Amino acid sequence: CVACRACPIGAQATQAVPGVGPLRAQRMLVGEQPGDHEDLQGKPFVGPAGQLLDRALAQLAWRREYLYLTNAVKHFKFVPRGRHRLHQKPTVAEMHACGPFLGREIALVQPHTLLALGATAAHALLGRAVKMEAVRGRWHTGVHGLPVLVAWHPAALLRAPEAQRESLFQEWLTDLACVLARTRSPRKP
Ligand code: URA
Repeated sequence: CVACRACPIGAQATQAVPGVGPLRAQRMLVGEQPGDHEDLQGKPFVGPAGQLLDRALAQLAWRREYLYLTNAVKHFKFVPRGRHRLHQKPTVAEMHACGPFLGREIALVQPHTLLALGATAAHALLGRAVKMEAVRGRWHTGVHGLPVLVAWHPAALLRAPEAQRESLFQEWLTDLACVLARTRSPRKP
């Protein structure tokens, strides 16, 4: 919640950023935490990572409105650097502090499948720390009893050296396509 002080991040961020999407979405996509843009706008995946996600969804002929989009951690963690706010990875304790909020979103939406973007989301959904290389691109059973597919975080693609970026993007598309293909009526929420 906006005034949450279960961990120190809440006191620093502009606002909590809850998930968005249809209440009975079949697929829930879970990122790490809101970034700078998300913190200011109060919506998940509206900055550069969200734009990359939109590019991937467009290539897969998928609509963002059909997905429930959220994050493992609901506040933006950063360190100020001049006029900028530099993203900081949340600690395991901070991720756990947000666990009940993510759990409630999952219970409310009741998605059929979960897509974990990056190591923090994978940790939150699988209940253990993971190496991305070892888990990505495969289905796992998560702590909420649902199938979880792990894929790169879009920020990892944005940070990758130019020469690798396109091949990582293609890999990412393949993983996202697995999630879209898994459910019964792939064009409906
Ligand atoms: N990165 C995330 O993990 N989530 C967002 O909402 C935006 C960027």
